[in-house]
Amino acid sequence: MPSTATAEAGPERLAQATELRRRTLAWGRAGETVGLVPTMGALHAGHLALVRAARRQCARVVVSIFVNPLQFGEGEDYRRYPRDLSGDLARLGAEGVDACYCPAPEAMYPEGFATRVAVSGMARLGEVAARPGHFEGVATVVTKLFAATGPCRAYFGEKDAQQVALVQRLARDLDLGVEVVVLPVVRDPDGLALSSRNRLLSAAGRRSALCLWRALAAAREAFASGARSAPRLARVAAAVVQQEPGAELDYAAVVDAADLSRAQRAEPGSRLLLAARVEGVRLIDTGLLRPEPGGQG
Ligand code: PAF
Repeated sequence: MPSTATAEAGPERLAQATELRRRTLAWGRAGETVGLVPTMGALHAGHLALVRAARRQCARVVVSIFVNPLQFGEGEDYRRYPRDLSGDLARLGAEGVDACYCPAPEAMYPEGFATRVAVSGMARLGEVAARPGHFEGVATVVTKLFAATGPCRAYFGEKDAQQVALVQRLARDLDLGVEVVVLPVVRDPDGLALSSRNRLLSAAGRRSALCLWRALAAAREAFASGARSAPRLARVAAAVVQQEPGAELDYAAVVDAADLSRAQRAEPGSRLLLAARVEGVRLIDTGLLRPEPGGQG
């Protein structure tokens, strides 16, 4: 697949939506498909798995790096969110990414910006309930990224399962010519789901954070042993997090695989959603329940 970027030069940096549009239009005219990987930076192996899938499937790859203030509520970690633009650009150069779209907040939301995109009908649980306004912020920035990129494949990680559902709905509803591609959760060998926020944890905090993986394993174990009550399976997972002194449970919910509404009865493929706070860092995790216990994902 063609790529103008080299590891030394890194990807071309674009700061304005108009510049990005000009590039993608030129690629489109040359018959080249475009892959977009939207991120907030502080890139880890989970992001790089999205980038590599995009490199395999598309002629050109754009990664956006933008810590989106609209999706952080008051008192959340917008200022503390990890940022590492030079490290990210080096990583993207090594992956042969063509362009990195990293606008300043004032370029994304100039003075007077007054539009919000809202996707209705999402079940009031998980991140929807815990972070009011969060998904309106996500939907608004993702719509802007899709509009600036134009027709493309856009790559998202399954760890943000509710975000994935929102983005899929939005892409279908708005006829933007965007095909959403979803890749599995990437974990460290001990099971911790990769997250940019993991950088904020001490070694002890990281050990505490493993309770999310243990909670998922416990729910899977109970499911594999025949438990089918969704509230009970959620309680099994919650109890594991509550037993970890370094973690504070936010929620544990078992949801329907198709529409992520709260399930009463768990089926193979039902999904566990989890969130907890460790050392003040909010972490989420998710996984499918399936007939056999253990395994990754
Ligand atoms: O998943 C993320 O990193 C962000 O929510 C996204 C999709 C880049 C929008 O800011």
